[in-house]
Order: sequence, then C-alpha cells, then structure tokens
Amino acid sequence: MQKHFLILLGTRPEAIKLFPVINRLKSENRKDVAITVCATAQHRQLLDQVLKLAEVIPDFDLDIMTSNQTLDHLTARLLAQIGDMLEKVRPTRVIVQGDTATAMTGALSAYYHRIPVSHVEAGLRSGDIFAPWPEEVNRKIVGSIADQHFAPTERAAQALRSENIPTNRIHVTGNTVVDALILAKARVEGDPTLSARWNEIRQCHGNRRIILVTCHRRENFGGGVLNIVAALETILAREDVAVVLPVHPNPNVRDVFVSRFSNHPRVVLISPQEYTDFVSLLSLSYLVLTDSGGVQEEAPTFGKPVLVMRDTTERPEGIEAGTARLVGASHERIVGETFRLLDDDEIYASMARSHNPFGDGHASERIVKVLLDA
Ligand code: UD1
Ligand code: UDP
Repeated sequence: MQKHFLILLGTRPEAIKLFPVINRLKSENRKDVAITVCATAQHRQLLDQVLKLAEVIPDFDLDIMTSNQTLDHLTARLLAQIGDMLEKVRPTRVIVQGDTATAMTGALSAYYHRIPVSHVEAGLRSGDIFAPWPEEVNRKIVGSIADQHFAPTERAAQALRSENIPTNRIHVTGNTVVDALILAKARVEGDPTLSARWNEIRQCHGNRRIILVTCHRRENFGGGVLNIVAALETILAREDVAVVLPVHPNPNVRDVFVSRFSNHPRVVLISPQEYTDFVSLLSLSYLVLTDSGGVQEEAPTFGKPVLVMRDTTERPEGIEAGTARLVGASHERIVGETFRLLDDDEIYASMARSHNPFGDGHASERIVKVLLDA
C-alpha cells in the first residue's frame, strides 16, 4: 500500500530536529512512499533560516506567524488551517516533533481527521505543567494521540510506559538534534570561513572567556527575564568575561535585552544565527547560560558546561551526566554557579566533559526504518 507521510513543522527547533528525518526519508527514494512537508510558519525568519540551510522546501506554507502572538489565537489559527490542509492532502500518517503549538495542534487535527500520528522526541516530562509552559501539556496531548512514539532516551521511553503507552509503540531512537548537530559541526570544520566569522569577537575580547547566553521561554517573561538581566549585569562587573547573546525575536525578551545591553562594551548582542554559525559560536564559548531545550542537548557534544535558567527540566540526562546544572531564573544561583565555573578549575573540568547523553547521531536512521517497516 502507498504510504504518504505528512511532516509538519513550525518553529526553529522543529526544523532543526526534523530536517535529518526529511532528508533521510527522501534519500530512500521509495516509489511506494510519498512525502509532503508542511510548514505552519509559526516562526517566520527563524524557520526560514533553517529550511534554507537544510535545503528543505515545504510543499505547503501556512504563514501563520503574527507579531507577539498569544497562545490562544495562535492555537486557533493553527488548528483551523492545519485541518483545512489535511482535508486536502489526506496523508496516511502525520509526523510531528516535540512540544510546540504546531506539534500539539497538528496531532489534534490529525486525530480529528482520523489520521495516525508519529511523535518525534516523545516522552519528555518535567512533571510540572507550568514549567516549561505550555510545552509540558502540549507534549502530553501529542503523546495521548500518537500511535508511534520516538523516544530520544530510555528515560523518555520509561515515562511513556508509566503512562500505559503499549511497549511495542515506543521506539528508543536517540534525539535527532544530535544528527543535525553532527552535520552542522562537520560543515563548520570543513569550511574555515564559518569559524572565521567570529574573529572580530575573538580579537576584541582577547583572553576574556565567552559566556554564550540564550533566553526565550514564556515562563521567564517579565520577572524571570529581569532577574536574568540583573544576574548578567553582576557577572559583567568582572573584566575577564564577555557575553555573546543571539537575541530571540520575541518582543518580550528582545526589547528587554536590547534596552539593557545595547551599549555595554562586553556584551555582543547579535541577531538569531544560522544554525552553523550558532554551532561554531558554541564551540568557542567557555560556558553556556540558557533556558533553551535544544541548546541543553547540544552543548555536551562540545564539552561546554550548561547552566540551565529554569527551575526544572524535562531533559535531566544532562544534569545526571554532570554536564548541566539547574539555576532557575534566580539572580543568586545564576551568579553563584557562573562564578564557581569561572573561578574553580576543578569544578569546570568536572562539567566540561564531551559526552552526549541525548543521542549518537543515528536517530533519523532508526525513525525512518520504523516508519517504512510499519
Ligand atoms: C515557540 C515554542 C517553544 C519553542 C520556541 C523556539 C510554542 C508554544 N512555543 O516559542 O516551545 O521553544 O518557539 O524558539 O509553540 N518571532 C518573530 N520571528 C520568528 C519567530 C518568532 O518575530 O521567526 C516573534 C513573533 O513576535 C512571535 C513571537 O516571537 O509572535 C513568539 O513566537 P511563538 O512561536 O509564539 O513562541 P516562542 O516563544 O518563539
Ligand atoms: N539556534 C540557532 N541560532 C541561534 C540560537 C539557537 O540555530 O541564534 C539553535 C540551537 O542550536 C538549537 C535550537 O536553535 O538547536 C534551539 O532553539 P530554541 O532555543 O529557540 O528552542 P527550544 O530548543 O528551547 O525549543
């Protein structure tokens, strides 16, 4: 029977984590398999950056994003437009990734159209529905609809089993972000112009240690972001560090960082970077301060300690491996743990181990095999 996979993606991390699956599926070149890629464009510029680099051209583009979109309006628009698209395309299976509004509404809409759903990056759980918000509930909704669960780690598979998902529907694959990262890293290492892109920062800051910062989580908006800014100001009182901060375009974070740091001599505020440029930046940084999910999964490949600016994480594998620590959006903890890493070589060395507990670079291979064999 003809298989028709519809792969749905909307945001930067979905594109990064799905392009290895899309490209591998396409490279199988099977006559009995049709592949349709639908971009909801929940993100616009951030999504386009990745799709261009990965040479993925969506068959459908729903062009959903509006400025400073609210969760309810975003969800309503996504559900209606994904539904109309599914009605037209009638795929035999919908593939969604992660925990975004696109993934959640994609799964729900597929269910309304009685189309089976595969979930890439299934089984991540923090146990707190408000952290990350709204992602914890989004992925539980996807998990309750999907009949194929691609769990990145054994721990994620265990979480699904404890929710009574039948074992034969759970496949431990590794996280596809490691596949994407390995491809990007090879590209950076093979093209000296990519790492030369950061020469200006290197020259300007000499021996200063680079702290790479990313921040965008909805639960940190308001007080959390202000605490993070205040903590960075305290850290920057030291002359021996510089902060590089690719600013997320969400106005709730962008406006605060731009107003506080635009003129700071040791803060480099930059626009969202192409994936290869970000990977290259990761490799030259000394440590990472982030509330991102994907960055937590990538930093261990480069042996970079990560301080996670959240109170809890659905990715505890990094904490257990000793390469990441939770610091919340707390001024005291962010400053305290950053200073420990800057001042104590032993603590730094204990966290700067290059080992990635999230995947081995073969996740998309395993996922495609299951998709084709089922
Ligand atoms: C979304 C995901 C989050 C993921 C993050 C990755 C949900 C509910 N949240 O959060 O899980 O970690 O993406 O970055 O799906 N914007 C632009 N250009 C862009 C992208 C965003 O201007 O290319 C601005 C817009 O004003 C937009 C706002 O950012 O309205 C928020 O985007 P949205 O996708 O709703 O939420 P994120 O906070 O980015
Ligand atoms: N990233 C990027 N350019 C940047 C910042 C991040 O390509 O300027 C990548 C990063 O390597 C990771 C992904 O974006 O793979 C993480 O996306 P984000 O933090 O927006 O979302 P999350 O992972 O928290 O859902």
